[in-house]
Amino acid sequence: MKLQFPEGFIWGTSTAAYQIETASENNWKGLKCKDGTTFDKCSQHDLHRDEDLEYICQISNGYRMSHDWGKLQKAPFAEFDQKEVDAYLRFMEELKRRGKHIMLVLHHFTNPLWFEKEGSWEKEGNRKMWLDFVQKSVDTFGHLVDTWNTFNEPNVYVSNGWITGEFPPFKKGKILLARRVLKEISRAHEEAYDIIKQKSKAPVGISFNTVQFKGEIFPGHLFAKIADWWFMEYCHNHFLKQDFQGLSYYARMSFRPFPLDNMNHTEQLKKLGRRTDLMWEYDPKGFYNVFHRYWKKTKKPIIITESGICTHDPKVRIESIKEYLGWVHKAQQDGIPIQGYFHWSTMDNHEWNIGQYYRFGLVSVDFETGKRTMTEAGTFMGEVARNNSVEV
Ligand code: BGC
Repeated sequence: MKLQFPEGFIWGTSTAAYQIETASENNWKGLKCKDGTTFDKCSQHDLHRDEDLEYICQISNGYRMSHDWGKLQKAPFAEFDQKEVDAYLRFMEELKRRGKHIMLVLHHFTNPLWFEKEGSWEKEGNRKMWLDFVQKSVDTFGHLVDTWNTFNEPNVYVSNGWITGEFPPFKKGKILLARRVLKEISRAHEEAYDIIKQKSKAPVGISFNTVQFKGEIFPGHLFAKIADWWFMEYCHNHFLKQDFQGLSYYARMSFRPFPLDNMNHTEQLKKLGRRTDLMWEYDPKGFYNVFHRYWKKTKKPIIITESGICTHDPKVRIESIKEYLGWVHKAQQDGIPIQGYFHWSTMDNHEWNIGQYYRFGLVSVDFETGKRTMTEAGTFMGEVARNNSVEV
């Protein structure tokens, strides 16, 4: 069956500066990951920009990207580094020349070390430093941006940094601090919205990560409810000024009674007969439920800022894309305005605290040599984008 998407639907792929560029002086540099790799160099996009641009253009008509804040700004309120500006500008100008839609993300999990030294997002008022970065980004790159994404998944950033303690600053169970960070970040977003609007007509939103939390045995029901309330509602309610609802989704999380992922609970998930990718329990239908939930809640058009699967097998990736697009299409038929789909990720990259074994790329990358190879999944995605339809 052929599923046709609406005219003007944005097909894109997505990356984050930290995950594809050589490490800068940021709060993740040198982190030893779960798989034993340390962040130092990975896809080295900064040394392969022209080549990567060709892949991006072959695959789709959109690209969701970020800049490395610490590379652009070496100190609080400093002028942007001209060499870095030139490299980013050249890249973005070429994307525009090829008619691509650029979604620029202004914060994707990392902070420059100097921002950390100032107390990071824990200290009220520090948002002024990031807002200065926003103002300068708008002045420098704004004319090339089609859609603005202020924060990437603030709910993941806050929860992983201050509740589960998996991300820097690795603070576990610090609920009050988490709340304080969330407040500072949400104020930063609301003020960034106004800064951007003074100069740019492009829509502004956040990307919000979603998960299906399912309590399955006592007292997992209660834990799942609390997780759902915090992650899907409370965090979300802080971000009011949004022209679109950016959504990402990767996983179902079953609580028996504690949450099961596929990195630490493989046997248990296998015994339960669950579908998994390398990281999580896999259930694409959950994204369909999420579309309905947030459409009902916000009445804002939706852009899928990230969707993908952690696997080394391009055939599995193709099946997954088909399955997800089936649910996207069905939600559109239900009347939900989903305006675009950015696949995570354009190329293999560094997966945060767990490392380089965990792959999402449409383009595979040999991290030793830097060699890129288009996978079948990338070719497939390219056909989908060109035809504005998918055969399922
Ligand atoms: C993040 C990406 C990450 C992906 C897969 C998202 O939550 O924005 O940076 O690589 O999930 O884990």
